[in-house]
Amino acid sequence: MDIKQIISQMTLEEKASLLSGEDFWHTKSVERLGVPGVMVSDGPHGLRKQDLNADHLGINESIKAVCYPTASATAASFDRDVLRQVGEGIGDACQHEQVAVVLGPAVNIKRSPLCGRNFEYFSEDPYLAAELSTSFIKAVQEKNIGVSVKHFAANSQEHRRMASNSVVDERTLREIYYPAFESAVKEGKAWTVMCSYNRLNGEYASQHRGLLTDLLRGEWGFDGYVVSDWGAVSDRAKGVHAGLDLEMPSSGGVNDQLVVEAVKNGQLDEADVDLAVERILTVHQRYLENARPETQWDKDAQHEQARQLAAECMVLLKNEDNVLPLSAGEDIAVIGKFAVKPRFQGGGSSHINSFKTESLMDALAGMPGITYAQGYDIVTEEPDEALIAEAVETARKAKKAVIVAGLPDSFESEGYDRSHMRMPKCQVELIQRVADVNPNTIVVLYNGSPVEMPWLGSAKAVVEAYLGGQAVGGATKLVLFGDVNPCGRLPESFPIKLEDNPSYLTYGGEGNTAVYNEGVFVGYRYYDRKKMDVLFPFGYGLSYTSFQYSNLTLSANTIKDTDTLTVTVDVTNTGKVAGKEVVQLYVSDRESTVFRPVRELKGFEKIALLPGETKTVTFTLGKRAFAYWNVEINDWHVETGAFDIQICRSSRDVTLSKEVTVESTVQLPTHYTLDTLFMDIAKDPKAMAIIQPMLDAQQPDFGCETESETAKEAITPEMAMAMMQNSPLRSSISFGGGAAMRAELLKLLEILNKD
Ligand code: BGC
Repeated sequence: MDIKQIISQMTLEEKASLLSGEDFWHTKSVERLGVPGVMVSDGPHGLRKQDLNADHLGINESIKAVCYPTASATAASFDRDVLRQVGEGIGDACQHEQVAVVLGPAVNIKRSPLCGRNFEYFSEDPYLAAELSTSFIKAVQEKNIGVSVKHFAANSQEHRRMASNSVVDERTLREIYYPAFESAVKEGKAWTVMCSYNRLNGEYASQHRGLLTDLLRGEWGFDGYVVSDWGAVSDRAKGVHAGLDLEMPSSGGVNDQLVVEAVKNGQLDEADVDLAVERILTVHQRYLENARPETQWDKDAQHEQARQLAAECMVLLKNEDNVLPLSAGEDIAVIGKFAVKPRFQGGGSSHINSFKTESLMDALAGMPGITYAQGYDIVTEEPDEALIAEAVETARKAKKAVIVAGLPDSFESEGYDRSHMRMPKCQVELIQRVADVNPNTIVVLYNGSPVEMPWLGSAKAVVEAYLGGQAVGGATKLVLFGDVNPCGRLPESFPIKLEDNPSYLTYGGEGNTAVYNEGVFVGYRYYDRKKMDVLFPFGYGLSYTSFQYSNLTLSANTIKDTDTLTVTVDVTNTGKVAGKEVVQLYVSDRESTVFRPVRELKGFEKIALLPGETKTVTFTLGKRAFAYWNVEINDWHVETGAFDIQICRSSRDVTLSKEVTVESTVQLPTHYTLDTLFMDIAKDPKAMAIIQPMLDAQQPDFGCETESETAKEAITPEMAMAMMQNSPLRSSISFGGGAAMRAELLKLLEILNKD
């Protein structure tokens, strides 16, 4: 199909019609010219294909499918291969079901633990979110199914999500909120991008030309189409010009008509319409030419895979006295409604109609020594004394008690944010009361976002399973009994209490204005800088074995910012069982003129090690690993100086560290004026050399000269120096130099600015 040729045969009305959906999930066709429509569907933790009543809230049924672990869980795998496997599985399902584009991954940054959609998002860390989601994207698209990386951009809250204006400075956008999208485009070659509902710095994302055209296409080279989030369009004609190609779902022809009118009255260039149509048809043609409806979708095999993957995502947070792993045959009281009815996914547009689910009790069926008590209800927060009493009695008789707890559906969902970080009261009380009678109490958590754990001191072990997909029960068993050695790491910090979170004071915004005040200090970047205690740090997770790190090597002691640095480190399994370790590399800038986090994740690898085995892990770091976004040059910039390459077990636990010096090859533009401070001149040896003779000759006193003895005592040399450093050049005119000084300074400035 020659797309340009076909477009040239279309009427304006036909072209405008292609810019919005036929219905909820289909794009339009133009039968006259043989242009077919295609179907898109939600994911991204499975396929949510609706064939009858459509909605984007997870209300109506979709076809039976496989629910993989949600992004909250897969992010904890710290394993690109886990995401590859999920992507391939969903790609096959889409091919089988003739769905051209799956609406995901959702890569927004977890700015606050309160965001209702955190369970769908990966991390508070942009590098982790970017690496994992890009692996998913590549895998889906290798199956010739498009992804729609969403929600672009700065959509980190649900509150007023269709009106809220995210006010975020450029450096923060570049360093925190954009990288996952940037990687999706540059590395993942995403076929489509979904713009978010919110405004970004005053303009709706759906009509933000700076975002959808200048940045996405101009800078990053995006060659697919942009689709609106469902109902995100405000001014359609403006959106077309801004680079929003496809509006979804259908606007009943209203917006198509507005596009036609805008072209007719000269507000919109018809070329913009042509371009949007071309982009949409090009992507769809890619799918249509490679459609393989004969692809097998083996749901049973995917269920088995989902179980294994969920186990790889679980994070062992505590394991006192090695109470875990459990042994088959031990007397174990399993407690909690979630042990029979697991919560394994979140609510809203990502809600999958799982073809089967597997609870922990299903997985334990037939195992001797297992007893069960419900413990709490999920329809109410209030403790039920009878349920608690029964659980306490069951726990008292057992050697160990496993409580499966977490957050019920009503606590977190698309569409609204949480108002607190607490678990339901009934569960908190249950855990406490069970722990009072059974010293070997183990808590397994099914939740999409961090929770406060006032009971932590009473539990011997804690497993954070997140929302682990339909086979989460089987996966829980694998981890509890040590068939899978836990190897997940927290993709987000767990603060002790909500108030500790950096966005706490302004999260949600005032009215429609949400100012991202904390800037780049999101998650561990904030807690680490503040040296604050956290419940569990970013990157944290235990294992049933132990690992030792040695031989950290850097390929050079000094590099230029255009070079790459190769880092190697040896990791040995020093325990008795096989296990996987997540080797985390952080870069720490020793000194900087801009405010920077203490350290930032710039590399991670998950490796499997048999007992006694050693493997060497290699990382390659380029300029971006050392750079910050410099708003003056509008580019990434590395300041010359020393950086520490730190191999860590979490953002708080540095095991090995080595220094490298990076030299900048970029000369930052400087322009000196009479208002330039002496301290800024002092930083530039060339400039200082030019100014110094004049200073020596004139000796301005900057107001520090005095005859009074008491004043002399008060003015220390440090203070005099500070006064000088903080003074602009022009003060040497005021404090002693006069007209001659001014004339001389102007001459010197001319020389300074010439270079
Ligand atoms: C959600 C998107 C989703 C779309 C279609 C919207 O409400 O924000 O993530 O893909 O609905 O269901």
